[in-house]
Amino acid sequence: MNWKKALDGMTPYKPGRSIEEVISLYGLKEVVKLASNENPYGCAPSVKEFMATAAIQHEIYPDGHASALRSKLALKHGVGEESILFGNGSDEIVMIISRALLSPGANTVMATPTFPQYAHSAKIEGAEIREVPLKADGQHNLDGFLNAVDSKTTVVWVCNPNNPTGNVIPIDDLKAFLGQVPDTVLVVLDEAYFEYVTAADHGDSVALLEHYPNIIVLRTFSKAYGLAAFRVGYAIGQSEVISNLNKVRSPFNNNSFGLVLAEKALEDAAFIEECRELNRQQRQRFKDYADRKDIHIFDSETNFVLIQVPGDADEAAEKLLKQGFIIRSGNALGTPGYIRVTIGTEEQTSKFFDAFDTLLSVEGSHV
Ligand SMILES: Cc1ncc(COP(=O)(O)O)c(C=O)c1O
Repeated sequence: MNWKKALDGMTPYKPGRSIEEVISLYGLKEVVKLASNENPYGCAPSVKEFMATAAIQHEIYPDGHASALRSKLALKHGVGEESILFGNGSDEIVMIISRALLSPGANTVMATPTFPQYAHSAKIEGAEIREVPLKADGQHNLDGFLNAVDSKTTVVWVCNPNNPTGNVIPIDDLKAFLGQVPDTVLVVLDEAYFEYVTAADHGDSVALLEHYPNIIVLRTFSKAYGLAAFRVGYAIGQSEVISNLNKVRSPFNNNSFGLVLAEKALEDAAFIEECRELNRQQRQRFKDYADRKDIHIFDSETNFVLIQVPGDADEAAEKLLKQGFIIRSGNALGTPGYIRVTIGTEEQTSKFFDAFDTLLSVEGSHV
């Protein structure tokens, strides 16, 4: 078959080990998955209750317009209903944007390391990928981004906070950057971890749309809302941008169950606030732990941390796996010498520190 040339050398997404797999592999009683930045507290109790009773007309296609969820989100964000695009997770929105705006001859600018799906999708579309290394502290090099943008640039990806470093861009820096990007370039502000940010110099980028019509903001129900299994993500942008992207979207990309659960989840803002605070407390414990042990940790504003390990990150990941913790090795994330750990509950964090201590206690190990 005549596959797209771009597929040469590409590999399908490789999910990490599942809890069940690790339990049977190592004969463990309990395994904690801290690898994909899901919410360790699950979703709001009201959503769980609703989940058990929600009646779905399973033989009927879902509402392809997501009307009810759309109205609620438009109200929440103070935008018009036509400014919202839904995706099967924000993953799909990355794909939709790439399909609509990237092709051979175009280029796209992003950080490295960052969320890998931007480059993955761009590659498939045959666009040139311009990767701008993060600064040493893990921040986006926005001046580097501006240097990389030219007349062939169609999409710029800003992962804010960035995965895997967790840094958030101060709002004034972001505004200064947006003011210099040509308005023919779509700037994607991927805010999958928005709900976890507590930094005072972070703002609501949806409000920036009024001044910078070429931005699009990505949010998801997979992280703080605890609904990753149901695949609901959305984007907010100018109606003209959304209308073009909608041409690429498949007609029934969200399932009926996911739509009603997301709608229900929006009713419980207190749950999100509680998760933000619980996460902030455990995040601080990670920072204190790293300080105490004199190991480097990036300044995360998310529900994960990128933390230094002694020796090879794959080996550290394997040792932690044997102790019941599934985390991500930095070797696969472009951050060798580090692991990315989702911030769990207080108890999970304490146990994780015990496991991490064993990495540090190996004779001769140092970071
Ligand atoms: C930065 C970022 N964007 C987007 C996603 C995709 O999330 P989802 O497709 O579940 O909405 C993730 C998931 O890990 C992420 O880390």
